[in-house]
Amino acid sequence: MKVTVVGAGAVGATCADNIARKELAEELVLLDIKEGLAEGKAQDMMQTAALLGFDTRITGSTNDYAKTAKSDVVVITSGLPRKPGMTREELIGTNAGIVRGVAENILKHSPDAILIIISNPMDTMTQLALTSTGLPKNKIIGMGGTLDSARFKFQLSQHLGCSPADLNALVIGGHGDTTMIPLIRFATWNSMPVTKFLSEEKQKQIVADTMVGGATLTKLIGTSAWYAPGAAGAALVETILRDEKKLFTCCVSLNGEYGQKDICLGVPVVIGKKGWEKILEFDLNADEQALFKKSADAVRSMNDVLKTL
Ligand code: 2OP
Repeated sequence: MKVTVVGAGAVGATCADNIARKELAEELVLLDIKEGLAEGKAQDMMQTAALLGFDTRITGSTNDYAKTAKSDVVVITSGLPRKPGMTREELIGTNAGIVRGVAENILKHSPDAILIIISNPMDTMTQLALTSTGLPKNKIIGMGGTLDSARFKFQLSQHLGCSPADLNALVIGGHGDTTMIPLIRFATWNSMPVTKFLSEEKQKQIVADTMVGGATLTKLIGTSAWYAPGAAGAALVETILRDEKKLFTCCVSLNGEYGQKDICLGVPVVIGKKGWEKILEFDLNADEQALFKKSADAVRSMNDVLKTL
């Protein structure tokens, strides 16, 4: 198996590092536009192979897409990261051009690849990848909800005093501070509803803190986070290459599910070797449905900006 990660910044490099440590692929290519960056980080990672004991061959490339040929999965992280106080949406103008170019170049050499989109604003970049490449919709997966759900589990675990691994919790909707919807009503600690253990006030706080999870880190670090975004990308690569059929929230093209059409938005999907294979429809109550519609409206108006670029 072969995986390419486009963008050797912090998110791309962390994603590649996770992929190598787990030996998800025999070959891993890291590609970046900045001269020497991908080669350097690839070599640095390869020097951990003897220490960590993995056999994945990692190579770097400065913009030579021929080296990415015949990749099974490609993770796209390219584009500018957020600065403190900046929304993901403010990146659209710059990142749209970058993501369009990357997707085009990738498909020239790997026409059968499954694409995982991490670049922000992630929902709009996923829509752009879908429309600009014309790939079957199951092969385009936006990573946002996977990350947001992991952050939701982190917040819940802090308040419950439990292991995040014992939690089931999903964030659906857009990957924006105001568009994501942590579904606390469905969240469970093993099989028990978490709402049983948390006051209404605590629940509200957990939901609010989850929604600004990325912004909180951007403020602390001075740029976008990378450990969890990189690990979330690698988790999706793993479920695809191992055909695990795991359930993740991902941004995928909707065709009537959750009352939406012609839009890529975060919903629970089963993921395996064909990409996303099935959307699971939760029975949302009226409030949750209204939030999903509001989220779709906001993402749709963001997508409309693409037409003006
Ligand atoms: C985040 O939420 C990078 O969008 C990513 O941290």
